[in-house]
Amino acid sequence: MKRSLIAAVVSATMATGAVAAESVEVLHWWTSGGEAAALGVLKKDLESQGITWNDMPVAGGGGEAAMTALRARVTSGNPPSAVQALGFDITDWAKQGVVANLNDLAGKEGWDKVVPTALQKFSKHDGKWVAAPVNVHSTNWVWANKAVLDKAGVNTMPQNWDEFIVALDKVQKAGYVGLAHGGQAWQDATLFDGVVLTTGGVDFYNKAFVQKDPKALNSATMVKAFDRMSQLRSYVDKDFSNRDWNLASAMVIEGKAGFQIMGDWAKGEFLKAKKVPNKDFLCMRVPGTQGMVSFNSDQFMMFKVGADSQGAQTKLAKAIMNPSFQSAFNVVKGSVPARTDVPNTAFDDCGKKGMADLADANKSGQLVGSMAHGHAVPASIKNGFYDVITGHFNGTMTSAAAAKAMAEAAE
Ligand code: BGC
Repeated sequence: MKRSLIAAVVSATMATGAVAAESVEVLHWWTSGGEAAALGVLKKDLESQGITWNDMPVAGGGGEAAMTALRARVTSGNPPSAVQALGFDITDWAKQGVVANLNDLAGKEGWDKVVPTALQKFSKHDGKWVAAPVNVHSTNWVWANKAVLDKAGVNTMPQNWDEFIVALDKVQKAGYVGLAHGGQAWQDATLFDGVVLTTGGVDFYNKAFVQKDPKALNSATMVKAFDRMSQLRSYVDKDFSNRDWNLASAMVIEGKAGFQIMGDWAKGEFLKAKKVPNKDFLCMRVPGTQGMVSFNSDQFMMFKVGADSQGAQTKLAKAIMNPSFQSAFNVVKGSVPARTDVPNTAFDDCGKKGMADLADANKSGQLVGSMAHGHAVPASIKNGFYDVITGHFNGTMTSAAAAKAMAEAAE
């Protein structure tokens, strides 16, 4: 159609009073089966309000690839309306003055009162709400295949690191892969969150990852944590390199491997495969981190868009924060709600445990931001940590050299 003709059609439509369809464009990295199912809950909600969903998926946990794609769009002056983002990435974008101000909606709906403070730290910038948190995930989880553990003679869940190693040994001896894992930097770092917590506890974790204390980063405890990463490395199969996390989950789901250390988005894969917690699979905290929670929260950052797109953007933010949506979505996603007033009734056993763990850890001061998923340090430092952790996992340096390199990366 020629331009002039399009213009004529558009103005004719407007003259008849027809309302132009509203739409949102959403950038995210939810491309696995479980993730797509959860995203479907949000898409449907919007579509039921007559809003068209323009999907912009960029795969890759931790959101590194998504942030790169976003940079290109923002640079060309054409950002999507909403973008999935984690912790310090939200702050980094907000500092650039490109995000929207959601204070009108947040004020009307009372977000200040229902969103946990640990999340608000990232949802708000300079007193303005710039993102709507959709969930709380956490990284210090282990997922296990119950039948495999039964066959391997692992009858009780390991309570500490040494018991975990015994269990991994038994699973390997029974002919299964001990630890299902994908060798990608963000996945290695996800293991490291739990390993550092079980090795040094919450105070050490905070000193190293939040305060970036060089004495903690380059310490005997950090060396021990790296030694434990080498231990884990000995239980992965030979094809682990660059495997996607959901394929590692599939190894546990299909009974090829005993365990996977991964955030609770992994539960979304088990549920998608119709597996039942405590019957087909087990969820536990990384042994030795009971009571501790290393959290990350997916939030939808809203960008400054033209007046014609703002209505749909506000409706998206409102839909995300709706309590019954937060229940429906998180039941499928594997995460827990980003509001404190959502009942746990619709959640399975692992979800109920996740909600209780989060509330308890928050009360007891054992809630920490996940380093691997952008909630401890900004990307500039996180990426330096990633390089060290991955390099060490692949045998390019000793544990002592890795601890030293962590301190250097934080500088
Ligand atoms: C996100 C999850 C996502 C996972 C794997 C994490 O960074 O917080 O929502 O499922 O990456 O893609």
